[in-house]
Formats: sequence, structure tokens, C-alpha cells
Amino acid sequence: MSKIDELLAAMTVEEKTGQLNMVAAGGAVTGPVQATGIEKELLAGRIGSLLNIWGASGVHALQKIAMEQTRLGIPLLIANDVLHGHKTIFPIPLAEAAVFDPGLWQLSASEAAAEAAADGVAMTFAPMLDIARDPRWGRIAESPGEDPWVGARFAEAKVRGFQGADRCSGLSQMSAIAAAAKHFCAYGAPMAGIDYDSADISERLLHEVYLPPFAAAVATGCAAIMPAFNDLAGIPMTVHVSLLRGWLRRERGFEGVIVSDYNAIAELLQHGVAGDLAGAAAAALNAGVDIDMMSGAYVQGLPEALARGLVSIDMIDAAVRRVLTLKERLGLFKNPFGRGRETSTDLALPDARRALARDLARRAIVLLKNDEILPLPANVREIALVGPLADARTEMLGPWAMAGSVESAVTIREGLAAALPDARIAYAPGVAITGADVSGIAAGLECCRNAELVILCLGEAANMSGEAASRANPGLPGAQTALADAIFDLGKPVVLLLSSGRPLMIAEAAERATAVAATWFLGVEAGRAIADVLTGKFNPTGRLPVTWPRDIGQVPIYFARRPSGRPAAAHNPYTSKYLDTPVEPLFYFGHGLSYSRFALSNLRAANPEFYPGGRLMIAVDVANLSPAAGEATVFLFVRDMVASVARPLLELKGVRKIALDPGEEGIVRFDLGASDFSYPGTNWNPVLEPGEFMIFAGMSADPQQMLSITARASPG
Ligand code: BGC
Repeated sequence: MSKIDELLAAMTVEEKTGQLNMVAAGGAVTGPVQATGIEKELLAGRIGSLLNIWGASGVHALQKIAMEQTRLGIPLLIANDVLHGHKTIFPIPLAEAAVFDPGLWQLSASEAAAEAAADGVAMTFAPMLDIARDPRWGRIAESPGEDPWVGARFAEAKVRGFQGADRCSGLSQMSAIAAAAKHFCAYGAPMAGIDYDSADISERLLHEVYLPPFAAAVATGCAAIMPAFNDLAGIPMTVHVSLLRGWLRRERGFEGVIVSDYNAIAELLQHGVAGDLAGAAAAALNAGVDIDMMSGAYVQGLPEALARGLVSIDMIDAAVRRVLTLKERLGLFKNPFGRGRETSTDLALPDARRALARDLARRAIVLLKNDEILPLPANVREIALVGPLADARTEMLGPWAMAGSVESAVTIREGLAAALPDARIAYAPGVAITGADVSGIAAGLECCRNAELVILCLGEAANMSGEAASRANPGLPGAQTALADAIFDLGKPVVLLLSSGRPLMIAEAAERATAVAATWFLGVEAGRAIADVLTGKFNPTGRLPVTWPRDIGQVPIYFARRPSGRPAAAHNPYTSKYLDTPVEPLFYFGHGLSYSRFALSNLRAANPEFYPGGRLMIAVDVANLSPAAGEATVFLFVRDMVASVARPLLELKGVRKIALDPGEEGIVRFDLGASDFSYPGTNWNPVLEPGEFMIFAGMSADPQQMLSITARASPG
């Protein structure tokens, strides 16, 4: 008999439901806690896992109780939201997506895992894989952006990073943690961008856009999945039998743990799909949810559900088995105190992690506009630094920086002062991030008096993005537009830096500014990374992982639109466009400037005809036409010209970066397989229809700036 079989045979129903119960140890945002309040429950075997606790001593104290004082001595599973770093906070996921480098995505996850594991954590509620095409939704900040192909690559990299690259032994390494991919699914498509609200999308969109990142996570061996809070066409994801039991478990073969979102099982009552806690618990368990996070519905409701015949003991056992199996895979039975042990190598790491945080942060910055003002001239002496985000330590880390400390963050002001010791930097916040008070604008203008140029730092507070942070009007909050207008009126060159977790509606400010950069929430090294880019110490290479609208009325806006029968045409009113706003975004997906100037040429296919099962080798030449060494980013898109179902105008199939010295030329290659040309057909299985495909290469999704060739898929 295996250890798990023995335990299952010995467990009471109460101990079984206890294993399915995850509770907060308290102090989510305040750090390590003395979790005395939960000891009684723990002793009674009514808790199987904890969240919101980290720190070796606190974790080990509770683990000791679980191991030594509970009847069966089953170790606790300790989970936390390690979204973009644990203590060393890296850029928010949307910013990290802008790096477009799976190797770095993986590295930041493995460093975060090592740091979290050293703090006693064994599972993270990450990666967050919600495709988001609506910047009103605050959780776009936590997402990899608008595109399913990027989302899938992000999923693979993050799962490997958190869990260890070796699928077999990875999780048992004491520096690895289990990944719980979330929020399954379509949570990024809530009605009107309101968090937690219904998603009501077509099955095609579900299969083409929202499921692929989860498919990639599962294929990479992701240990857990978290269903989303929302309902999908009336069925809350927590009880979505056809997606959880059907698609995830049966079709994708997912054998890991499904952990509910926070209190989501009890919220089934609010959703109106369960009449009481026992009914809610039964519906969630029967749909395949193993762990109940925070609602108490399983411990309170499952025994009654069992008595009423709403669930079977076999279903409960199967869920318990999956939880115990995860604990076993994590090495918790053999080595319950293995995570949370400081070792000498751990002590040496923070500097290296800071260096990684700085590198990621500067790679995440997207230079949106630059009328020849950046990099700052080496002889600049008088700079005005204005705006409420210029010296805002509390805002640098962004959402989900639970174990991170605000004190560890470097502000923009500090970063610039250190990078430009010979310049005088006059600083004034001008206005607060929110609020109508304009009394500080005069001081803001005053500090521009002798300045050669102004660095204007505007945007959101960290808590204006992330969960429960939807904004109907995601522009510059408070009186920031008034400040910006007053500064622009001075007629001096203005570098506008935007701190935010989403694209902001800043069309007018972008027009008036001399340069604009998206600086997101970049983490502990924000200020230094921004200084690296502004001074030219680092040549920007970040690219937008989302289309940046010019007007909120354009959302949802994304590059993979389907063709209209009446594509927008300038002089024909009866075409797909607005009367009052251009249809084009302010900045395309993939946009991002560099201090180098690159040109693409000679897009070619080695074999313009390919067969199912074959490959299509694409190459394009890239030249650096400038005196600055830099890194070019090339995006490869395809379009299926004629298919049984209208295919998007552009589908992303590859992204490559290439570093080029001044005047250097290089070749970027893409190796495409049949799956890159297929789409979900009957029963949503991939189908490749023979015929013509267009292949596009560009430095963004701007259709005016792309090279294209055609290729043919031949019948098999
Ligand atoms: C969020 C999840 C998170 C969980 C635990 C919920 O409110 O939706 O993303 O993992 O809380 O903190």
C-alpha cells in the first residue's frame, strides 16, 4: 500500500474535508504572522493548506503542529501569491510580457520560486494567464497581455521557472514551488471591464483565445489550476463541469489539483446557482474543484452533502488523493521543513536578484515616442522632475508585492540623481496622484523655470491596477491632466513617463510630449532601470504586449481582428470605422522604439509550399542602420486567406530578438509547423485547410509597416 492509500484508509470524513480546506493564516499584506487563531482547527485536522503566510519561523511553527500534533501528521501546503517576485519584486506581469523573452520570463520565476521557497512557501497562485483586451479591467496588469500565443509562451516559461525545468524531479527540489495557473478561464473578458463580472463569449473565442495559455500550462506540467470567479454564459467557473472535468481533466489530461479562488465556493450562493453551503460544496466538488480556498464550504458543507447523497465518498477521496499527491510531489512528506531553510547560497543571492530585477525592468520599459530628445544629452545640466510618480516609493512595486517591502524600491528621482551626478534636478510633485487639488501646480511650473527639459512622471497609484481596480475612464487620474497641460504650455521639451498597470488614455498628452515611455510598475529597481533608459546606458527594447487605444470607446481593441466585409476605407463612409475617432490605436501591439534604427528586408520562405506534417522555414534580414548598438524585435504573423471560418487578419506565430552592432546585418529565422497554420475546427480539434497563407514580418502589428509573402499549404 502506498503512503497515500494508507492515509486515505485511515482518514475520517472530517480529516478528508480538512485536507481540502485552505485558510488564510492572516496578515496578507503585513507579512509573517503568529497564526495562533488557526491552531485549534489545525490540531483537529480541519486544515490542509494555508495562504498568506511566509517566513521560515512562522511557517515551521505551524508545520510542526501539523506534523507532530495532528493524528495523521500530514504536512501543510503553504501557498501565496508570488506573482512578480517574492521579496525581490520584479516588474508586473504585463510589463514583463513587454520583455518578450521566454528565457527571462523563466528566470524571474525560478528566482522568485527560490526566494519564496526559502521563506517556507510551496505553491504560488501564478502564473496568471488571463488574456486581456480591455484596459478598463485592472487585472490586465497581472496578465501577459492580449495575445494567446504570447500567453502560451508565458505560461510555459513561468511553469518551468516556478516548478523547475525538470518535469519529473522539479517539484521535489526545495527551491521549486508548485504553480497554480489562473484564472481558468475568460476572467479577462468581463462585461464592460468590471472585475468579477460575467463573461459571455463565443465558444470560438474561448478555444482560440482564452484556453490556449492554459493548454500550454497543462502541457508543461503545471501542478494546479485555479478556476476564475466569473461565470461564463451563466455557469460560474467554479462549477463549470464541461470546462473543468471535460476540457481540463478529460481532454487535456490534467491530473493536478484544482484550487478554488478566494471564497469562490460560498459565492456560488450569490451567483444564484446554489441554495446553501452543502449544495455549493457539492457542485464545486462534482465539477472537479479539490481545494476550497477560504469559504469553509467543504468542511462545513461536504459532510451534509454526503449525507444528502449530493456527493459520493469516492469523489471526496479522489480530491484528497490529488491534494496528498501534490504534497508528496513537493517532497513535503519526506522533508516538511525543507522549504524555509536559509542556506549560504540564499544569502548570496539578493544582489544577483536585484541585478536581474534591474535588467528585467529596463527591458520592460516601452519607449512609445521620441522626437530626438532621448537619450538625454550627456551635457544636460538643468532638469525639472515633476509629477506625483517621480518620487513615489510606495507606488513602484505594483499590485501583488506581498512579501516585498516598499523601502526596497528605488524611486525615479533617486535613480536619476544617481545616474546624473552633474545635473541639477529640481523636483516638485505638482499634484497628488488622485484628487482635484491644483494648488501645487505653480510649484511644479516654478521648478521648470531654468530647466533645459522636463521629465514628467504621471500615472496611477499601484492599487489602481490589479484586483478590484476596474476604471471606466482609465486616463490620467485626478488633476494630472491639468498639471500636464500647464507644463506643456511652457513650451519646453517634455519626457512623459507613465507609471501604470494598463494602457492609459493619453492621446493628447502623447501628442504634446516630446517623448513618452510606458514605465508600468517596474519593481524594486524601477528608478535605476528608468535612469538606464533615459540616459542611454541601456538602449530600450521593450515592446507593447497590448494594443494601446487612443480612446476608451475603442475597446476591446486588439490586432487579431477578423476581417470585415467592409474594411475601413478613408473615403467610404459605409466601412468599419467610427465617425468620431480613428479606428487605429494610439500605439500598435508590438510597438516600441529604440535608440537604434532597424530595417527589415528580404522576407523569404525556404519552401513556399508545405504539407501537413511538414515545416515552413521563414527568414528575414534585419539591419541596424544607426550608430547605436541595439536589439531589434521581429514579429511574425500569418493569415489564412480563405478558410471555412473567417480567420483573423493577423495571427502571431513567432517573436525573435536580435542584437546588432552599428551597421550590422543579421538574419532572423522562424521555423513554423502545421499547428501554426491550423485553427480550431469541428469539435474544436485543430484543422489545417489547404490553400494560401500570407506571412508577415514586422517590428509591430502595424499593417502599414510589414513585409509579406505568400505560402501554400498543400493537401496531404
Ligand atoms: C484573487 C486570486 C488570488 C487569491 C489569493 C483572489 O482574490 O482573485 O488571484 O490568488 O485571491 O490571494
